[in-house]
Amino acid sequence: MIKPLLYGGLAVFGMVSAVAAADSPASLMALYAQQAGVSGSALSATRGEALYRTEHAGRDGQAVSCAGCHTANPAQAGRTRVGKRIEPLAPAAHPQRFTDAAKVEKWFRRNCQDVLQRECSAQEKGDFITWLSQIK
Ligand code: HEC
Repeated sequence: MIKPLLYGGLAVFGMVSAVAAADSPASLMALYAQQAGVSGSALSATRGEALYRTEHAGRDGQAVSCAGCHTANPAQAGRTRVGKRIEPLAPAAHPQRFTDAAKVEKWFRRNCQDVLQRECSAQEKGDFITWLSQIK
């Protein structure tokens, strides 16, 4: 009697945590638009692409950009500065992308600091995901 109850409880718990973790590119775009105080349709793939490609003077004066590690084509695998493989950033090429809000926030913070020497705004994050989501 106890066992089915226990397993049933675990199954329900598993389902609840799976639902809670179910972020998606669309849900994150909606969240960032809301944080920025704009409608979802005000997010811009064009601005997202510019954010991705624009080079900035990095801390040591070297030109840095998101494309520097994630490559000119975000549907392809990238490389860190020490040569470690980075899975493609485009969800079409790597479906796990933008499915974990905590991970997404962690890397936006870290990489925007690295490239722009400041955090990205909510609007920029929304634009960025909008562009990447459109890549086939
Ligand atoms: C120094 C190399 C490097 C640069 C430059 C870089 N990234 Fe990344 N990025 C990484 C690494 C490493 C990861 C984590 C490994 C992984 O997720 O595959 C990552 C992951 C991410 C993720 C996580 C996405 C997800 O859902 O998994 C986002 C968002 C991201 N980067 C955005 C950016 C943005 C925006 C820029 C430019 C402002 C940028 N990155 C520049 C190396 C870089």
